[in-house]
Amino acid sequence: MTADELKRAVARAALPHVVQGELLGVGTGSTANHFIDLLAEEQLQIAGAVASSEASATRLRGHGIPVLDLEEAIASGRGIPVYVDGADEIDPGLNLIKGGGGALTREKIVAAASECFVCIADQSKCVDQLGHFPLPLEVIPMALGLVSRELSRMGGLPAIRKGFVTDNGHAIIDVSGLRIADPVLFESELDHLAGVVCNGLFARRRADIALVSSADGVRTLRA
Ligand code: 5RP
Repeated sequence: MTADELKRAVARAALPHVVQGELLGVGTGSTANHFIDLLAEEQLQIAGAVASSEASATRLRGHGIPVLDLEEAIASGRGIPVYVDGADEIDPGLNLIKGGGGALTREKIVAAASECFVCIADQSKCVDQLGHFPLPLEVIPMALGLVSRELSRMGGLPAIRKGFVTDNGHAIIDVSGLRIADPVLFESELDHLAGVVCNGLFARRRADIALVSSADGVRTLRA
């Protein structure tokens, strides 16, 4: 199977987790794009989607799926039973690195607002310990130098993502060279750096379920 076929297979495996008639949180990236396309192709009936990026919102609307702001969703009093999104790395405890597509802040917000986070990924994303994939941080532009210096002091190798601006108008620093032994603690430490809007560790709010595709099929992991 090609990498794209593995992504589509795992996106399809997420469809039974969608609660029809309710709101649905929808993530960002190539795997999430397959999920959006399948939602439309299989004509799943949802009350509306809360998207974690402008790109996903545009794709959803292109299929005629109604998109709500999170504020509208909260004001409606309806919950978001399920959030479906990809990941860049998944460890055995279902802690994640996300943000390869730069949407980490809105992804973390929609994940926090959702009752169940279903992560969809192919086997290549599974690791014993997080940190092989460069960890993205969304940073206020005036703090790029300051945050980079602090990250170097913490043992990382920071690189500013060139020519990239997030949906929130900020920059991204990708940090390589990290071996993340305690994801919950490290997520909190990074949150305390002045100028950091959000970091791509999803450990305090990790995935509840991970669907992982390989040539042998899709397996389900639970936290
Ligand atoms: C975007 C993300 C994506 O979920 C992550 O990068 C995985 O993307 P893909 O499905 O394209 O491999 O966190 O910010």
